[in-house]
Amino acid sequence: MFIALNFRILTVMTQPTPTRFIPNTLPKVSHGEGCYIVDSSGKRYIDGSGGPAVFALGHAHPEVNAAIKSQLDKIAHGYRYTFTSDPLIRLNELIQAQVGAELGNIIYVSSGSEAIESALKVALQYHWNRGDQDRKRFIARKRSYHGNTLGALSVSGFAQRRKQFEGSLIPCSFVSAANVYRPAIPGTEDDLSQFLADELEQEIVRLGTENVAAFLFEPVVGAAGGVVLPPAGYARRIREVCDRHGVLLIADEVMCGAGRCGTWRALEVEGVLPDIMTTAKSLGGGYVPLGAVLYSNKVAEPIVHIDGAPNTGHTFTGHTLGCAAAAMVQEIVRRDGLVERVRSQGETLLSDVREAIGALDAVGDIRGRGHFIGIEFVADRKTKTAFDPALQFTERFRARTLEAGLICYPVSGTIDGASGDVAIIAPPYNATRAELDEIIDKLAKGAARALADINAA
Ligand SMILES: Cc1ncc(COP(=O)(O)O)c(C=O)c1O
Repeated sequence: MFIALNFRILTVMTQPTPTRFIPNTLPKVSHGEGCYIVDSSGKRYIDGSGGPAVFALGHAHPEVNAAIKSQLDKIAHGYRYTFTSDPLIRLNELIQAQVGAELGNIIYVSSGSEAIESALKVALQYHWNRGDQDRKRFIARKRSYHGNTLGALSVSGFAQRRKQFEGSLIPCSFVSAANVYRPAIPGTEDDLSQFLADELEQEIVRLGTENVAAFLFEPVVGAAGGVVLPPAGYARRIREVCDRHGVLLIADEVMCGAGRCGTWRALEVEGVLPDIMTTAKSLGGGYVPLGAVLYSNKVAEPIVHIDGAPNTGHTFTGHTLGCAAAAMVQEIVRRDGLVERVRSQGETLLSDVREAIGALDAVGDIRGRGHFIGIEFVADRKTKTAFDPALQFTERFRARTLEAGLICYPVSGTIDGASGDVAIIAPPYNATRAELDEIIDKLAKGAARALADINAA
């Protein structure tokens, strides 16, 4: 899904894959108004996903736009080695108020992938400075996505996005996905979380504890699995495994964090603190390209002691305009109690989606937390058999929901890289009840039409 349709059309023209179901053209975006996006023909779409779960406050928010304009009238950017800035200091304060002092060390970057790159480098620098200079290896999970730069892709268990780059990626081990609907073993959630923790521990031991830098995971999986929540007790158990072996725990909250799941940190619910955490999309709410790495005082100590600061960053690290926009987004999130709103409204959203389409034979699972809901479509509900990828259910669903005037985030290949179809719903935090109802109504229409299409195919 993340690859723009235009690019896919080009791919189809230059490669022999003529069976792909591709709509002819993309609509041209004109403007946004809160939860709505209007294209150049005047058609209105309700934004049920904000692209890949980005727009925390919807579009063209007057206060965010005013903050951006006002910052631009002063200065766009004060370079990080020359200046700090009020927006950066304010954004630090707002994030620290949400995550607590222990995770209060922050590096700002311009994307989720850059946040992951810096997270990996902070982990390596921490170990190096402590004299653990062989700790170079990373462990991640199958069916995970951490970004598209070579380092971030190296730790992503996402075959479709890796295949042309294999051989140039850094080594990484992949343990089982933590998926309750499609569990790695039969049994209870507790059995599953114990199995997954044991599997992680065995992989650390197999690689040699002294060689492992960090274990990296998405507390709630986004595009790679379609809003996959871990089994109960999972986070606590992997935290214990990492602690036993001196391995750092990196929580990738680029998609699920910054309030999306009804707590500012998605992992907060499990009562677990990671050593390093990434955040991006909803941090700046889509108004600016912004990501951040947060790391604990424990991790900061040897880095600051020996080098003064993490050996990472870019020209636009801590971009002043980016920080000004994100500070206003976060100011509004806090002032209007939007994380709490997402939490309470999310329960109703989940049950309303279940009520609207849960009885369809083709709906295998509806899951999620806060404003982050995944609907897994299947050919056979009982056996959980996915649709034949040749039917291109996800492509048809995307086309049909767009036609119905809904933007959602359908992802495919969620089971094994080829099969598996999930629609993600991730509305703005400030969506009204009526707007959420409209999203659900259009979702049901789009699903019915897409299912009729594949029945007729
Ligand atoms: C969990 C996760 N990590 C990292 C990334 C990479 O972020 P970006 O696309 O901003 O580089 C994504 C993007 O979808 C993501 O979902």
